Amino acid sequence: MSLNLLPEKREQGKQEFAVEVGRQINRRDFMKGLLAGTAAIPVSAALYYGYDKFHGEPVRAALIGCGDQGGVLVGEHNPEYLRFVAVCDIRPYNLRRIFEGEGRAPRWGLVRKYGSHARKEIEVFHDYHEMLEKRKDIQAVVIAVPLHLHAKIAIDCLRAGKHVFCEKLMAWNVRQCKEMIRAARETDRVLAIGHQRHYNLLYAYAYELIRAGTLGVIKHIRALWHRNQTWPVLERDRDGKLRPKVENNQPVLRDSWRPEIRDEDLNYAPLLEKLTYYGYRNLNELVRWRLYLRTGGGLMAELGSHQLDACSIFLGKVHPLAVTAIGGKHFFQDDREVEDHVYCIYEFPGQNYYERDDKGQIVYELRQGRKVPKVNDDNDVVVVTYSSICTNAFEPYGECVMGTRGTLIVEREQEAMFFPEADPNARQSGSAVTTVQVTQGAANKPAVDSSASEPRAELLRRGQGALPNPVSRGYREELEHFAFCVKMWEDREVKPEERPWPRCHGEVAMADAIIALTANVAMRGAEGTGPRRIEFQPEWFDPMNLDALPDPHVKEYGPPFE
Ligand SMILES: NC(=O)c1ccc[n+]([C@@H]2O[C@H](COP(=O)([O-])OP(=O)(O)OC[C@H]3O[C@@H](n4cnc5c(N)ncnc54)[C@H](O)[C@@H]3O)[C@@H](O)[C@H]2O)c1
Repeated sequence: MSLNLLPEKREQGKQEFAVEVGRQINRRDFMKGLLAGTAAIPVSAALYYGYDKFHGEPVRAALIGCGDQGGVLVGEHNPEYLRFVAVCDIRPYNLRRIFEGEGRAPRWGLVRKYGSHARKEIEVFHDYHEMLEKRKDIQAVVIAVPLHLHAKIAIDCLRAGKHVFCEKLMAWNVRQCKEMIRAARETDRVLAIGHQRHYNLLYAYAYELIRAGTLGVIKHIRALWHRNQTWPVLERDRDGKLRPKVENNQPVLRDSWRPEIRDEDLNYAPLLEKLTYYGYRNLNELVRWRLYLRTGGGLMAELGSHQLDACSIFLGKVHPLAVTAIGGKHFFQDDREVEDHVYCIYEFPGQNYYERDDKGQIVYELRQGRKVPKVNDDNDVVVVTYSSICTNAFEPYGECVMGTRGTLIVEREQEAMFFPEADPNARQSGSAVTTVQVTQGAANKPAVDSSASEPRAELLRRGQGALPNPVSRGYREELEHFAFCVKMWEDREVKPEERPWPRCHGEVAMADAIIALTANVAMRGAEGTGPRRIEFQPEWFDPMNLDALPDPHVKEYGPPFE
C-alpha cells in the first residue's frame, strides 16, 4: 500500500495520524465533556460507539459454523456480553477445533476461553434445525457458514425467534439480502452483519479526519488486497528431503482457498450421507466452497467487500454511481470457477455531486415517478480503484485515500498513517511548515528532522503512542454491540424508537453486498458479452423492492438442492 516508505517515514505517518485524530476528536461536541483540554484519543470502543458496560446476564448464543472465522469470533468475543451455550457444525474436524483451538491468537478455542467445563456445558449439534427445536433458551445465533447458506440459515433462525449476527458477505445474491431484512422486520429481531471495519477505531478516526476536511478534497482512493497463493506445499520424501507435494500430477500450492480435506471429515459417514441435505454436492465443495460459483462469491465477496465497505465509510456511506470491472482465471488452471485476479473501477459521487439541503442531506426529486437524488455537479466524481490478485504479495491489503491536502493510508486494518501534502507556499508566506521531513542521517541512515513548528512538535510528542496498540480489528466490539442491542431490544421498558441498531445492520450490509456483487456482474458480463460498465440504480438499495436487483439472472440456492 505504502510503496517505498522508510520505517521512519511510516512512524512519522502514524504520529501525524494520531495528532490529527486527537485534534479533530477533541473538537467534536460530543467528546468535549469527556476529553476537554487534552490531546488524548478515546481508546474505548464502547465509549466511542456509545454502548454501555453490560449489566446482568450475558446473551445466550449459539455458533453455527465452527470453521476459521467461527474460531476467530470465539477467540475474540467478550463472554461478559455474549456467551456461547451451543455450537453447530457438520464437520467433526472443525467441531473438535472450536473447543481445542489452535493454541494461538485469535483462535484460542472454547476450552481456553471458558475453562475445561466448556466441553460439558456447551451442547454440540450437527443439524441447526434440531438445535433451534431443542434449545428454546438460545437468544441469539452467530452464523459463520459458507456464503450460499447465509440467507437460508439466518432467515430460519429469525423465524425461530432468534436475533442474528451473520458473517459477511450478507448473502449470496441481493434478493436474499432483501429477504433477510424483511424477515428481521417481520420477526422484530436484531440483524447484524460482520463487516468488522464498522467497529475498528482506526476507520472511525480516519473518517473523523476526512469529515473535518483534513485531507482537503478527495478525488481518488486506491484499495487493494494482494496475496501470493502460488508457493508450493513441501513434504518430506522417503529420504527425509523436502520436495514439492504433487497430487494428480499437479503441484499442490499454498492456496488458502483450497484447504486440505481432513481424514476426520472424509471418514465420517454421517456427514457424507447427509451432504446434499446440508447443502453440498460433495466434500470438496464443502471444504473449498470459496472456489465455486454455487457456494461462493469470488474475490469481490470475500475480500473486495471489506475494502469497498471502508471506501464507502470514508466517503460518508454514499452509494457508488457505476462500476467497471475485469477479471478472470488468469493463473490457476484447476477446477475453480471464480476469478483469481480482479480489477475494478468504481465511480462514487463527490461531496457536491448531489444537491444538498442546509443540513447537508441529499435532496431528492421525482423522475419518471421514481424518487431519485438530485444531481448538482456531475463532474464531481471520486474514483476508487480496487484490485485483488493471487500471484504477488508485495503490498499488503489496505486503502490509500488521496486528498488535495494529504494522504491517508490504512494498512491491514492495523495501521493508519497520515501524510500532509507539502505546501509550496509555506516558506514564502512565513507560516510554519507542517510536515516533519525524513532526511539522510549519519551513515546514510534516515533520520527524522524535528524542526517542525513548536505546537505541532508538542502535539506529535503527545500524540505518540496515543492510539490503541495493537488496534482491535472490531470483532470483539461488533459482538459486544450486537449483544448490547439484543439486550435493549428484549427490554420491554425500551420503546421501539429508542432501540440501538448495530452499525452494520441489514441495509448497510446490503449496500456492501450490492457494491461487491455488481462488480461480479460487470466482470462476468451477461451471456455472450464481455466486461462492461454498470450504473447503480437507487431502487436496488430499497429492501422492500424485491424485484429491483443488479443480478436478477442469478439463481436462488438453498438446501436441499438436488
Ligand atoms: N469478517 C471477516 O473478516 C471474515 C473472515 C473470514 C471469513 N468470513 C466469513 O465467514 C464465513 C465462514 O468462513 P470460514 O473461513 O470460517 O469458512 P470455513 O469453511 O472455514 O468454515 C465454515 C464452517 O461452516 C460449516 N458448515 C457448512 N455448512 C453447514 C451447515 N449446513 N450447517 C452447519 N455448519 C455448516 C463448515 O463445516 C465449516 O466448519 C464466510 O461467510 C466468510 O465470508 C469473514
